[in-house]
Order: sequence, then C-alpha cells, then structure tokens
Amino acid sequence: IHPTAVRRPHSITVESDNTLYSDEHITAKFFNRGSEVTVADGHFSVKPTVQEYEFQTKRAVSKTGLMMIGVGGNNGSTLCATILANRHNIIWHTKSGIQQPNYIGSVLRASTVRIGTEPGTGKEVHVPVSDVLPMVHPNDLVLGGWDISGVSMDKAMERAQVLDYDLQRQVLPHMALLGKPLPSIYYPDFIAANQEARADNLIPGDDKQAHLEHIRADIRKFKKDNGLDRVVVFWTANTERYADLIPGVNDTADNLLAAIKASHSEVSPSTIFAVAAILEGEPFINGAPQNTFVPGVIDLAERQQSFIGGDDLKSGQTKLKSVLAEFLVNAGIKPLSIASYNHLGNNDGHNLSAERQFRSKEISKSSVVDDMVDANRLLYKAPAIGAKGVPVGKGEHPDHIVVIKYVPAVGDSKRAIDEYYSEIFCGGRSTINIFNECEDSLLATPLILDLAILCELLTRVKYRKVGEQKDFAPLYSVLSLLSYMLKAPLVKPGTEVINSLNRQRNALESFLKACIGLEGNTDLLLETRIW
Ligand code: NAI
Repeated sequence: IHPTAVRRPHSITVESDNTLYSDEHITAKFFNRGSEVTVADGHFSVKPTVQEYEFQTKRAVSKTGLMMIGVGGNNGSTLCATILANRHNIIWHTKSGIQQPNYIGSVLRASTVRIGTEPGTGKEVHVPVSDVLPMVHPNDLVLGGWDISGVSMDKAMERAQVLDYDLQRQVLPHMALLGKPLPSIYYPDFIAANQEARADNLIPGDDKQAHLEHIRADIRKFKKDNGLDRVVVFWTANTERYADLIPGVNDTADNLLAAIKASHSEVSPSTIFAVAAILEGEPFINGAPQNTFVPGVIDLAERQQSFIGGDDLKSGQTKLKSVLAEFLVNAGIKPLSIASYNHLGNNDGHNLSAERQFRSKEISKSSVVDDMVDANRLLYKAPAIGAKGVPVGKGEHPDHIVVIKYVPAVGDSKRAIDEYYSEIFCGGRSTINIFNECEDSLLATPLILDLAILCELLTRVKYRKVGEQKDFAPLYSVLSLLSYMLKAPLVKPGTEVINSLNRQRNALESFLKACIGLEGNTDLLLETRIW
C-alpha cells in the first residue's frame, strides 16, 4: 500500500507548559505577534504587538459524511471511486505496470510540515500534515449526495472516462453499492442549456421553500442512517451563472429566507443547498465559481455560527499563476500581461461554453494576482487619490485575460497555456510560456478531500482571547484557512483576500502548529547563521 494511504495514529506530543493534553482536548497557548503601522508625511511608525490566545482542539474526530452536490459528475464519481479503491486496496494494471491506490495531490495526506530539528545534528524533522492534529482519514468518509442526473454511480464513473479501465472494472461493484444519487434541484436558468438532457433526477415542483426543506431532510436522514456526527456538504455540480445581488432579496439573512419562501427567481440551487446546510448546522463548501455566497448567506452563517468555505477549486492554472506572479513581482520583475488559454472536453467544459457560466469562471480566475500587485507599488503605480482622500480605481495592473474553449476530443485532459510577458532591467522584456496538460478531475479530487477533512477539523477547534474571553468560542464562520485549495477565496467581509499560494500554505501550517503550541514557520534558522 502506498504510504499516503496508510492509516497512522496521531503521533506528535509537544512537551511544553504551553500545551496541555487531556483525554478530550489539546489546549495550546499562542502568542499572536504582529505590528501596527501608522503613516504620516511619508514616515512609517511601527509598533510591535502581541496578544495571547488559547486554542482548544477536540481530539476525537467526528464520524464524517461527505455529501456532494453533483456527485454523479467527473469530480464526484472520481472521488468516490478513488476512495473505494484506497479503502479496498484495489490494485490495477495500466499499460506501464501495476498501480496502487494513493492520495497523491492531497496536501494533508501527501505533503509534510517541518516541526523542528534533531538535537545534535540540527537535521530538520518533517511529518505528514495529517499527523499534526487528529484528522479524519479519507478512507473513513461516508459518501453520498445529489445529482440532477439519475445515472447510478457505477455508470457515472464510466461516463466520466477518467479512470483506467482495469480500475473501473474492479471498483465497479463497490460503486454500484452507492446506488443512484439523490434527486436534486434544477432551475434551468442557472446552468447552461446544454445540460438539460442530463436533468432526469429532480425534486418535483418549483416551490423553493419546499426544496429547501427537502434538502434539509436529506441531510438529516443521511446523518441518522449512517450514525454520523458531521456532514460536510460540498458543491461540485456545474458552474452556475452569477445571481443578481438585489437589495431586499439576497442582501440579509432574513431577506434571503423570505425570498426562498416567495420562490424568488434569483435564488440559485447552490444557494438553497448552502442555506440548507447552514440551517442544519453542517459546513458547506462551494467548489465552483458562482456567487452562491450572496451577502444573505454569509449573514445567515454568522447568525447560526455555521461554517462556509469557497469559492472554486484551485487545481491547475490558477495555482501555478498564484506562485509565478508572486515569484515575478517579489523578484522585482514587472509582469505587463498574463494571457491564459484553456481548452477541455469534459462536461464541465461543455457547461462553461455557455456565456453566463463562462463569466462566473472568468471572474473567479481573474483576481488572483491582485494582492501581489497591490503589495508592490515600486513596480505598479498606486491608484490616484480622489476628493475626500478616497483612491480612484485599482491603480496600475498587468493586462490579464482568461479564455476557455470546449474541445470535446480532449475529454477530461485539460490543456492550459499561459504567457507571462514582463518588463525587466532597463527596458528589457521577458516572456515565459507555460503549457500544462493534466487530467482535470484527478487534480480536483484530492482538493475536495482536503477541503472536507480540514473543514471537519476546524469545526473541532475553538479559541479564546486571553484576558477578554472567559469561554472558548468557535472560529469565525467563513473558513478562509481553506484558501490554499480555492481559486477565489471567500474571506471575512472587510478583510483582504490573500491569493499568494505560499502565504496561504504558511497560514494553514502556522495555524495547525499553533493548535499544538508550536511557533509558526520561520526560515531564519539562526543557528546556521551564527558562530
Ligand atoms: P461535471 O459536469 O462532470 O459534473 C457536474 C455534475 O453536477 C453533473 O453530474 C451534473 O449532472 C450535476 N449537476 C448540475 N446541476 C446540479 C444541481 N443543481 N444539483 C445536483 N447536481 C447538479 O463537472 P466536474 O468536472 O465534476 O466539475 C464540477 C464543478 O467543479 C464545476 O463547476 C467545475 O467548474 C468545478 N471545478 C472543477 C475543477 C476540475 O479540475 N475538475 C477545478 C475547479 C472547479
């Protein structure tokens, strides 16, 4: 069995007065160090700050279910089949030999974190990310979900044409046991017209309140039937068009609930699912680009202290862009234009060939370099300051375009072509061209796992601001710690979006370490620099 599939006990103990272990919890002190900067007449005055917190993590992992909306699609069926292959240790033949199941591509299962150095040798010690805190093993996730297509899960896997035939053949009986997806909500106006032929597994009627109650009942039943403590509800269905933001309709929790009652036309299926999960107190993650999280949904999640995360899985091109753009800008090189072309031939590509659904994807892919550009006003001119001292526009920015085309022949094997055209020293120019070819669903599937597993973990972590809060409280509803896996990270309203992949990873690692009382990442390595 590949090491990433092996079940390992939680095996780290931190020996420190700052970390306490009880049968139920790990409680750790954390000193949040930062600095406050005031600017006056071009002078920066910096005051270091420190605030003490405590994190308390429940040690027992929840028995967790993953309910996917769009479970019969490429991502959904691939995720189910690969978990089953891992769970049953199915080994299959490919043209190049024998292949074992694994979780390669999962940050939690296939990457490591540095926890310190060995005494004496100073050698760095790395552990799997999944060992830092108790986390659900992907093999233990109970799988289920909805799809507007009523094709059974074994047939859905065949339709997706993602996995090797020999794996399909062996995993098929296990997939057949998953049966048919639950019927779902279909409002044809939200996804491309070309999806209509698939829509044969629908919850009847057009009463949105009844639909909401139906989905809530599905979640409750799934939880009860499988004896679960937690259900993560995950949108991996087709990309919807954006919903219009209408004051009085989807701007507050109460207005949104009233709009659902009135079956308002601007309430999308994905928003109904999000509201259902929130009202059931279960986390909801949006793996597609549309604006499921209208302000009313965020308001409702805050009110219910329920968890949400999104938007859109960051699998290939955008992930690379968030690394390359940062590399260039941090190297003092000035990207002048970034041009991205994709073509793909799976059903996602078919849906995205419609203008309004493409627009959702375009928006989600477009802001990825914004924070890097904003952070370097040596290279890019800041926005002009208008009357009343308010900045006008976004300031100088590289040209950035995104094109997506549907080419059925290439199936699930997405092609992404990116050109980075930059200004270098004394008027010179540099062009980097990247051509990436990758099986889309095999990149996306491990991200769904990471998101679901991290999400479950974050429901078990509570915090306390020492000196201000007596009791431990849950984390804030919008789980921006999931940003590493998401293309257009949803963050707490009023706070900045971090797109840099390195910073996103750093935040996640630092948080996991803080929960066991370890300092965040430092590359200072002072011992190696002094006598
Ligand atoms: P897919 O088209 O193969 O699967 C989507 C499934 O959703 C289909 O089975 C469809 O019948 C179903 N569906 C549509 N509307 C529904 C509704 N209202 N309720 C329940 N089911 C519904 O697409 P794929 O490749 O699995 O991608 C899924 C989503 O993930 C897409 O929105 C895509 O943009 C997004 N995504 C995928 C990435 C990838 O690399 N595969 C990367 C980033 C995002």
